Amino acid sequence: MKKSSISCGQQDFSSVLELSLELTKNYDHIPLCYIHTYGCAQNVSDSEKIMGLMKECGYSFTDKVENADLIIFNTCAIRENAEAKVFGNIGELKRLKENNKNLVIAVCGCMTQQKHIADRIMESYHQVDIVFGTYGAEKLPQMILDVLRENKRVFAICENGDLMSESLRQLRSDKIKASIPIMYGCNNFCSYCIVPYVRGRERSRELDAVYEEAKSLVEQGCKEITLLGQNVNSYSYGFVELLKKINSIDGDFRIRFLSSHPKDASKELIDAIIDLPKVAKHLHLPLQSGCDEILSAMNRRYTTNDYMRIVSYARERKPDFSFSSDIIVGFPGESYEQFCQTKEFLREVKFDNIFSYVYSRRSGTKAAELRDNISDSQKGLWLRELILDQRETATNWLSRFVGMTLVVLPDMEGRTGEGWLAGKSDENIIVEFKGGKSLIGQFVRVKITKAMNWALLGEIDK
Ligand code: 5AD
Ligand code: SF4
Repeated sequence: MKKSSISCGQQDFSSVLELSLELTKNYDHIPLCYIHTYGCAQNVSDSEKIMGLMKECGYSFTDKVENADLIIFNTCAIRENAEAKVFGNIGELKRLKENNKNLVIAVCGCMTQQKHIADRIMESYHQVDIVFGTYGAEKLPQMILDVLRENKRVFAICENGDLMSESLRQLRSDKIKASIPIMYGCNNFCSYCIVPYVRGRERSRELDAVYEEAKSLVEQGCKEITLLGQNVNSYSYGFVELLKKINSIDGDFRIRFLSSHPKDASKELIDAIIDLPKVAKHLHLPLQSGCDEILSAMNRRYTTNDYMRIVSYARERKPDFSFSSDIIVGFPGESYEQFCQTKEFLREVKFDNIFSYVYSRRSGTKAAELRDNISDSQKGLWLRELILDQRETATNWLSRFVGMTLVVLPDMEGRTGEGWLAGKSDENIIVEFKGGKSLIGQFVRVKITKAMNWALLGEIDK
């Protein structure tokens, strides 16, 4: 196979229908697409757009990779182990490709946006036909056609792009919960993070476009809308304005959002969460470290005092206010004492939940140049220590809800036993209670009877 690259502006077809006819005539059946999404909610949302496009092009979907005519891996670059997993999975596709010469394999997303990764796939993974990054997904049908017609590999990594095309509509499989991207990219350049390099600078979607999308989802019966962005607080048209506008849509639904940056989280944001009835009473506010020197080395641009000011304001207004966070353990140069400051700070803040990670070196970032003399296995032990500590905090702190009635949106059967349902409360806490499956997808008032470290148990409040 010869290698090739196409420019991002190339487009031969006047309509998707025409393109769809060209594509489907290569098959004697409805072609099946298998898509595997790695990583965050933003990637899930991008994959939904790609699925929307492929559906328009006449494809159906399968969750069995061996039945697929088109395999897409939408990848994540946030940590090294995410990348290792993708390479392992791509390796396994070699056998499928040998058995089916018509199979088209595409790899896209944050990982392939990095040149050294795209090069490695090009050199060493010949089963992959198409590589593109975080831009240009709308050209995928054209790329597939090039592979099928001309038997060539297509590498189309663009350096920058627009919004993940406004013309692509998400194909959402979940009718109860949906996400809406409100902005793409990140300007913050935290020193450990690859995101600004692979997703480019911040671009916000128009407020009216987001509003219309939310309105239409609510009209279709959606009960929970999550607004997505790397740092929603720097949404160009005013994030609190957007929350107010979406809150004004008629209907029984709630609004969540991800993620906020502590340097931009304002009192107005806390007020909006507390005062707007449809906004879920919870803030995910990634702290990353509870040590000021490490925060500075991470280029986070806030101190633990700044962070605590936001928490205190929220808890003054609403004493049971729920926070969750992201923590990185073992940043280059971090000492055990500095790690212990993080542990202490977590106890002070009292998070309901944290997502904690061992620092992963990302080449191209500022932190990748720093000396790092703590071994990964040592960092693994610190992580364990942090998790055990947090578990204790959470169990104690979650017990504040015992005796209270929370609003829960059950979306699956519970782990507690037969006849139990599970869902998240407004405060973003897993709640399990006994109830019929017909309640799935409806808001239920649940009186909390018990707190565990991972969830609350309760009974329907009649
Ligand atoms: N190593 C470990 N964790 C990271 N995160 C981002 N970059 C890295 C990295 N290089 C974590 C941060 C962020 C979350 C999405 O992933 O905690 O908030
Ligand atoms: Fe990465 Fe920091 Fe941007 Fe979050 S705010 S995506 S951690 S650079």
